[in-house]
Amino acid sequence: MKNRASTGVITMLQRDPSIHSLSPLLLFFLLLLLIVLNPTRKQKQRRFLQVRATKEDVKEGTENYWSRKWGFRANQDLTTSTGITIRGLLQMLDVALDAGDPRPMIRLGHGDPSLFPCFRTSQIAEDAIVEAVRSAKFNHYPPFVGMLPARRAVAEYLSLDLPYKLSPDDVFLTLGCTQAIEIALSVLACPGANILLPRPGFPLYEARAAFNHLEIRHYDLLPEKGWEVDIDSIENLADENTVAMVIINPGNPCGNVFTYQHLRKVSETAKKLGILVISDEVYGHLTFGNNPFVPMGVFGSIVPVLTLGSISKRWIVPGWRLGWLVTSDPNGMLKRTQIVDCIKVCLNISSDPATFVQGALPQILGKTQEDFFKKIASILRQTSEICFEKIKEIDCITCPQRPEGSMFVMVKLNVSLLEDINDDIDFCYKLAKEESVIVLPGIAVGMKNWLRITFAVEPSSLEDAMGRIRSFCQRHKKRQ
Ligand SMILES: Cc1ncc(COP(=O)(O)O)c(C=O)c1O
Repeated sequence: MKNRASTGVITMLQRDPSIHSLSPLLLFFLLLLLIVLNPTRKQKQRRFLQVRATKEDVKEGTENYWSRKWGFRANQDLTTSTGITIRGLLQMLDVALDAGDPRPMIRLGHGDPSLFPCFRTSQIAEDAIVEAVRSAKFNHYPPFVGMLPARRAVAEYLSLDLPYKLSPDDVFLTLGCTQAIEIALSVLACPGANILLPRPGFPLYEARAAFNHLEIRHYDLLPEKGWEVDIDSIENLADENTVAMVIINPGNPCGNVFTYQHLRKVSETAKKLGILVISDEVYGHLTFGNNPFVPMGVFGSIVPVLTLGSISKRWIVPGWRLGWLVTSDPNGMLKRTQIVDCIKVCLNISSDPATFVQGALPQILGKTQEDFFKKIASILRQTSEICFEKIKEIDCITCPQRPEGSMFVMVKLNVSLLEDINDDIDFCYKLAKEESVIVLPGIAVGMKNWLRITFAVEPSSLEDAMGRIRSFCQRHKKRQ
């Protein structure tokens, strides 16, 4: 790097023809002068620092040294874009808990049933991991898109429910469904683009979209229609800069399962608008009501679909961090529009799921017995039923729709029936403090004065928790 003085001398040397007549000795001295004038990098850095700090400041150990202006600062985009998060609110509720309460604390705030013995994963999945580790075949770095046998296993697993066959090239392995969301939104975040997200929804989408400067437009899920997508509003919200709409099926936080006919309407609407559908199917197959699970990829020939999923929920191993992003797109639209290339670039600069979990995946997806899935569905049916029936016994909360899938139910809170509760956050805070029960304030998923309750807990704990919620509501009931 040349400094200004040296650049000036060089320009002068180039421009002035008389300079050519100078003796070689004079030129040698001029060059020497240039070298002396040109400061080293260290000198430049020191000068730079001196502009920021006085000599007194840089004396190590003095108070000024630590309070002076430094050359680094935090990325404010991170703090401003994440907004209200589920983890943030749950941490706040943890603080409210009364350490002196002798009763066990019961968490109905997040969907991780792996802590309960009745939700232990299948023996086949555990053995597959142990074998993969012991084989010593999976200690290397994996390819950035995922190992071929594992991608083939996902393609075969998902193709069972599709009218066409996925290829391993359609599958990209990710660190849980979380990273699949990150990749999908990063790929679509062109300047000026906007995305349609469900309300209520899963706040990671909002946080990631905001972080990527992708404008968010919310469409409503309609409680009076079993939490179906408000299709009419989609057409009004979208414009020429809309790139995609997100659906979560089976639903978090509503516990709904979209019908085949409804998904078809969604696909036709997206086709009309020229947008793709991101279908979050992390709760895929976790259904226990009337509607069977239909993957959005079934409509992949109508509209291109990015299917996101993982083994976190169906196999109840969220800590194994194995997910996927799949292009369910038999017409090859996502290849033609270079979305696929962009996914690969994004994965190339991201971390990968552990190789031994990828090594175990073909066994996990291909060999898990139907009995295991039936047992889990039956416990969820039982606990969702307990939850739904107990809610009916509590005046200030109502449930518009019996849950039929996933692990959650949304209930409406009527604060006007309560004496000293301001809103959903206040309700959850006081409930945690007085009853050692944690539920999620609806504001975390975009619905103020609603609550999200997970029923994926041990049935006896759920009965206990619902009893405590009931006595809490009775205690705080407004006296006439
Ligand atoms: C709707 C939804 N999508 C994605 C995720 C993240 O899934 P994973 O744990 O596989 O990263 C969750 C986790 O709770 C979720 O509820």
